[in-house]
Amino acid sequence: DPQKSVYELIGGGETIRRLVDAFYRRVGEHPGLKPLFPADLTETADKQYLFLTQFFGGPPLYSQQYGHPMLRARHLPFPITPERAKEWLGCMREAMDEIGLSGPIADHMYERFIQTAHHMVNKAES
Ligand code: HEM
Repeated sequence: DPQKSVYELIGGGETIRRLVDAFYRRVGEHPGLKPLFPADLTETADKQYLFLTQFFGGPPLYSQQYGHPMLRARHLPFPITPERAKEWLGCMREAMDEIGLSGPIADHMYERFIQTAHHMVNKAES
C-alpha cells in the first residue's frame, strides 16, 4: 500500500521504541558521543521516540509536547563535528541491525538519518 507511512510499515511505536533503546544504549557507551549527553539518557530517549514517530509519518507526538522541532537550533549548544555525525550514524545503523530493521525501508530510513545528521553539523573537525 503506497499510502502507508514508514511508521506503519515498520510496525509503529513498538518498533520505534526498540530502535531508540538500542540506539541510546550504544550512544551511552560511545567514547566520542557519551560526553555530549546527560548521564541519564531516559529523557533524551523519550524525546527521540516522540520525534522519530512524527519524522517517519506517525502521529505528531513531538510537536504536541515541545512545539516545532527546530532540530538544528536545538543542537547548536553541542559541538557537532563531521566525525560525531559519522559516529551517530554508526550507532543508528548498528541499532537498526540489532532490532532486525533491514531491506529497502531501512535503507530509506537511513538515508533520511544521513541527511538530517549532516544538517546538524555545526563545527569543523577539531
Ligand atoms: C537531542 C546530539 C543528530 C534528534 C540531542 C542532544 C544531543 C544530541 C547532545 C541533547 C540531549 C539531551 O540534552 O537530552 C546529536 C549528535 C548528532 C545528532 C552528536 C550527530 C549528527 C540527530 C539526528 C536527529 C536528532 C540526525 C534526528 C533524526 C534529536 C532530538 C533531540 C536531540 C529529537 C531532542 C531535542 C529536544 O531537546 O527536545 N542530540 N544529535 N539528533 N537530538 Fe540529536
